[in-house]
Amino acid sequence: MNWDIEIVSSTSSTQDHLKSLADIAEGKGIQALRQENGRGRHGRSWFSAEGNLALSFMLTPMGRVEDIGVLSLMCGLACYRTAAKYVDNALLMLKWPNDLLLDGRKCAGILIESELLRGGVIDRLYVGIGVNLNSSPIDIASNFASYADGKIDPNDFRDAFLNEVAALYALYKSGEAQLVLDQWKEAAHKVGDEMSVKLGGQIISGRYRDIDAFGNLSLCLGEEGFKTITSGDVFLGVENADVTGD
Ligand code: BTN
Repeated sequence: MNWDIEIVSSTSSTQDHLKSLADIAEGKGIQALRQENGRGRHGRSWFSAEGNLALSFMLTPMGRVEDIGVLSLMCGLACYRTAAKYVDNALLMLKWPNDLLLDGRKCAGILIESELLRGGVIDRLYVGIGVNLNSSPIDIASNFASYADGKIDPNDFRDAFLNEVAALYALYKSGEAQLVLDQWKEAAHKVGDEMSVKLGGQIISGRYRDIDAFGNLSLCLGEEGFKTITSGDVFLGVENADVTGD
């Protein structure tokens, strides 16, 4: 993978900045030292102070639209694997679809956006990642510096993260998406964990059952069987509320 990451001192959103560029190749990315108007999932804001990582990059997987779920989990897993180089991995947990929790609080979020070709083939996948490295915007979010030895260099974290993305992406491209999913499951909540999912105005509560081959969440609803969730906000029993940008 040839990464071509451009560092800008300030931009509104690295995601929008990247999407505004014409004729870019796979591996192109924008990293902002200051991001003024970061976007989170489901139309929310993402606050990123200087010293934290705000990065967007583009992939051209040429897979089918159904693969977006796996690619999304893949990016979360890459973040988990990077984070485990800085803190004890017993403190880390992935929360579906791709949030990273540090000591039970969100420390990183990922925004996935795509452009499709005719016939449902992914043309461009834009991945935006925000990581609270040295500070948290609010108390219920965590940051790495509070748990690691000293300040974290955003460029070091970025390079390690992109290496992990490249390794997992190679696995996906060689037809081993299931291996990516299996590793994601190892790093995530455990079967039977209580969780609620906010779907529009509705909250569905149940227990974590599994992730299917497309990266969708399967929730056990007791006597009502189980439900497959393709998109939504997950709240775990260990979290009080999720107002951290996701
Ligand atoms: C989430 O809601 O959890 C996703 C947050 C994604 C934030 C990142 S920061 C870099 C990139 N640029 C944006 O505007 N958003 C993403």
